[in-house]
Amino acid sequence: MRTKIVAGNWKMNNNLDETKKLIKGLKKSIKKTSLGKTRVIVAPTFVNLYSAVKRAKKSKIEVVAQNMHQAKNGAFTGEISADMLLDIGIKTVILGHSERRTYFGETDEILKNKVDTALENNLEVIFCFGELLEDRKSDNHFKVVENQLKKALFHLNKKDLKNIILAYEPVWAIGTGETASPEQAQEMHAFIRSLLNEQYGEKTSNGVSILYGGSVKPTNAKEIFSKPDVDGGLIGGASLKVDDFTAIIKSI
Ligand code: 13P
Repeated sequence: MRTKIVAGNWKMNNNLDETKKLIKGLKKSIKKTSLGKTRVIVAPTFVNLYSAVKRAKKSKIEVVAQNMHQAKNGAFTGEISADMLLDIGIKTVILGHSERRTYFGETDEILKNKVDTALENNLEVIFCFGELLEDRKSDNHFKVVENQLKKALFHLNKKDLKNIILAYEPVWAIGTGETASPEQAQEMHAFIRSLLNEQYGEKTSNGVSILYGGSVKPTNAKEIFSKPDVDGGLIGGASLKVDDFTAIIKSI
């Protein structure tokens, strides 16, 4: 069975006090929830990571980073290394988010390097990818997704792949209120799994968790999560409110 995962990407939101309150609220609300093996993940902004790690200790909440630089260390003003993340107890990093690709020029080549650096340092990766609206309108969405995966991930071996969680996030659905329909999500997730199958075989492809991201809300989570190849979600806006995020976690 694949691991089910509900992850909150807090992006550039929440000051220290808000971060503490959100973690505290989530700890309390999920305590009463039977989660089984489902993983609950949150990704606060860098300045609040260490505090979040300390506050989430001894709870089901895993704290992860939103990004990481590919170099070991050095003159990269404003950047954060794998070592620094490990040092404060981080075990997982989000890479390839569309906002990093669009606003900060992260290319497939850069992302390939970042993935390699993360895995060399035993960091697990939540790898994001997804097509633009124009790609979908021109019926190029499968090709775009295939290219993103092949260019940044498919050089990895089967063992490496065990430390990769995929997050399909169609860019047109991020923060727009427009969600991919459960059928659209399933169709793409099944396609992604077929690519994994071709490259790595059935056993490996069946073990990779593929999350959906893009305007997941308490009202649509259950239906999206019910699809056979959707193993959870990467949630933006709705993960900033204890009640909404808890409702989404309970939908899995
Ligand atoms: P929203 O849930 O706000 O659409 O954001 C999705 C996302 O980008 C998660 O990484």
